[in-house]
Amino acid sequence: MATPQIVIIGPPGAGKGTQSSNIEEEYGVEHITTGDALRSNKDMDISYLDTEHDTPRAYMEAGELVPDVVVNEIVAEALSAADGFILDGYPRNLEQATELEEMTDLDMVLSLDVSREELIRRLTGRRVDPETGDIYHTEFNMPDDEEVQERLEQRDDDSREAVERRLDVFEDTTAPVVEHYRDYEGFVEIDGEQHPEDVWDEIKKAIDAHIDD
Ligand code: AP5
Repeated sequence: MATPQIVIIGPPGAGKGTQSSNIEEEYGVEHITTGDALRSNKDMDISYLDTEHDTPRAYMEAGELVPDVVVNEIVAEALSAADGFILDGYPRNLEQATELEEMTDLDMVLSLDVSREELIRRLTGRRVDPETGDIYHTEFNMPDDEEVQERLEQRDDDSREAVERRLDVFEDTTAPVVEHYRDYEGFVEIDGEQHPEDVWDEIKKAIDAHIDD
């Protein structure tokens, strides 16, 4: 495997963004994240689709999935420009998984497993540095620099209500995608409830073992 093509899947708050940054740095692949892409285009006019809401923002703040057609296009464009990738946040339903199979081949699917109680704690405490995109947590990972502390922001969809909804959407819609990949030879399940460095050690070992195959 030259430049790996990897999907990372797991519930909101499982640590996909945190670990994708490690993978990007270690293996020189591109981090493609539908969540960040949609956050950068929150107010895009999608009224022409004639679906429930007219912007991605409205779906995201409610904790609902943005219509497939919008997300599929973002991913197709990003994949066509990437030489190796870690794909984070896609596919989120079985239709998107079918779409992805038509776009490219995958070397690995990494699935992060974390309990609901821990996910709620992580997401409601998450803070993001708007200048660097670095992810922190109010309880166990705050920056030392006071200037950085002061500019940290909470994501609109990290309110308790939106988090509960996002977790329900994961159970109903994305958990079947994890099951769909379970028999695939590049599928690896990782215990995401460990310390972030231990999660990273496990992921790195899994990728290295796969590269050596
Ligand atoms: P998206 O941005 O993809 O959000 P998500 O899947 O809900 O995942 P998060 O980014 O919240 O969590 P994460 O797993 O990356 O966790 P992180 O590393 O930050 O999507 C947002 C919205 O966009 C969706 O709700 C939907 O509306 C829309 N959307 C996106 N993709 C779509 C698609 N394909 N189709 C349709 N709609 C789509 O970690 C969380 C916190 O925990 C941090 O504070 C971190 O510091 C901490 N942490 C991480 N690891 C650990 C650890 N091991 N121990 C302790 N704390 C940890």
